[in-house]
Amino acid sequence: MTIRFGVIGAGRIGKVHSKTIASNPKAKLAYIADAMPQVAADLAAQYGAKVAGVEEIIKAGDIDAVLIGSPTGFHAEQIQAASNAGKAIMCEKPVSLSVETIHETLKVIEKNKSTLMIGFNRRFDPNFAEVERRIRAGEIGAVEMVTVISRDPSPPPAQYVKSSGGLFRDMMIHDFDMARFLMGEEFVIVNALGSALVNKAIGVEGDVDTAAVQMQTASGRIAVITNSRRATYGYDQRMEVHGALGMIHAKNVHESTVEVLNGAGYLAAPIQNFFLERYMTAYSNELNAFISAVESGNRNPSPSGFDGLQAQKLADAATLSWQTGKPVKVD
Ligand SMILES: NC(=O)c1ccc[n+]([C@@H]2O[C@H](COP(=O)([O-])OP(=O)(O)OC[C@H]3O[C@@H](n4cnc5c(N)ncnc54)[C@H](O)[C@@H]3O)[C@@H](O)[C@H]2O)c1
Repeated sequence: MTIRFGVIGAGRIGKVHSKTIASNPKAKLAYIADAMPQVAADLAAQYGAKVAGVEEIIKAGDIDAVLIGSPTGFHAEQIQAASNAGKAIMCEKPVSLSVETIHETLKVIEKNKSTLMIGFNRRFDPNFAEVERRIRAGEIGAVEMVTVISRDPSPPPAQYVKSSGGLFRDMMIHDFDMARFLMGEEFVIVNALGSALVNKAIGVEGDVDTAAVQMQTASGRIAVITNSRRATYGYDQRMEVHGALGMIHAKNVHESTVEVLNGAGYLAAPIQNFFLERYMTAYSNELNAFISAVESGNRNPSPSGFDGLQAQKLADAATLSWQTGKPVKVD
C-alpha cells in the first residue's frame, strides 16, 4: 500500500518532511502547498510533486494523508478541514497556542474518527526511544525524577518570538512532551523561572530565552527541564532519568566518533549543530510510525492529539507561572 501525501507549508520543516516522504518506499509525495507559490514550486520540482492550493490538497481525491508544516497559527483550521475531508493528518507541534482551540479540533477529529499524529519528533530519536523502552521494561525500577536539558545553538530573531507563542509554547513544548513520555504519569503542578539573558530584544518582546521548569505528578514524582536559546558548542539535547533501581541517560550525538587526546586534554568532535542534523533519523522514524498508523487504521498513534493537548496545558501553566512568580496547578 502506498500512502499518497499532500504537504502544506514548504518552509524549514516542510522541506524535512518532503524529503522523508519522497525517500520512503511506502509513501508518495503528490502535492505541495505554500502561501508563497514559488517556495512550493521550488520544493515540488525537487521531488516531481505538483503544486496546489491548501484547499485543493485537503479536498484532493487522490490523497490519503495531509502533512501540515505551516506556521502554528494555521494548524488547527487545517487539521479540522483535512479531517472533515476524510484525510489522515500528521501535524507539526504545537497544535494551537490556545487550549480551547485544541479541544475544538480534537472534537472534530473524534467526530470524523480521523487519524491524527502530532510532530513531537523526539519520541522517535533512536536514543530517546531506547531510554523510554528500557524504563518501561523496568531496568531502573519506578521512575522518581526526570531531567531534560535542551539548548539551541543560537536564538531566533526577536520578531519570531511574537508569533511563536514564546519559549515555553514553541521550544519547551518538545520537552514537556518528552517529560510526559518518560514519566508515564501526568504532571499536576508547574513552577517556572525565565529570563532574557541571550538577547535583550527577546525580553523586550515579552519572552525569555533562558528558562527552568520544575513539575510534579500527583504521586510526587518530579521533572526538571532547562532550556536556553544559546549553546556555544552546538545543539545540546540530553536527558537523565533516575529510578528506584538505577539511572538511565542519553548523551549528545557528535559529528563523528573521533577523539584527540593530547597534552591539552581530551578533545571530542563537536556535537551536531541543530535539529536538521540531530533529528533526521527521528523525522524518518516518525513518518514510518504515521504510515503504520494509517495502514492499520490506528486513530490514536503516539504522539496523539491528546499528547498535543497535554503538552500545551503544561506550556500555558509554565508561562503563567513565569509571569506570576507562583506555581500553577494543572487539571
Ligand atoms: N518538530 C520540529 O522539529 C519542528 C522544527 C521546526 C518547526 N516546527 C514547527 O513547524 C511549523 C513551521 O515552522 P518552520 O520553521 O518550517 O517555519 P517556516 O517559516 O520556515 O515555514 C513555514 C512555511 O509556511 C508557509 N505558509 C505561511 N502561511 C501558510 C498557510 N496558511 N498555508 C500554507 N503555508 C503557509 C510560509 O510561506 C513558509 O514557507 C511551526 O509550527 C513550528 O513550530 C517543528
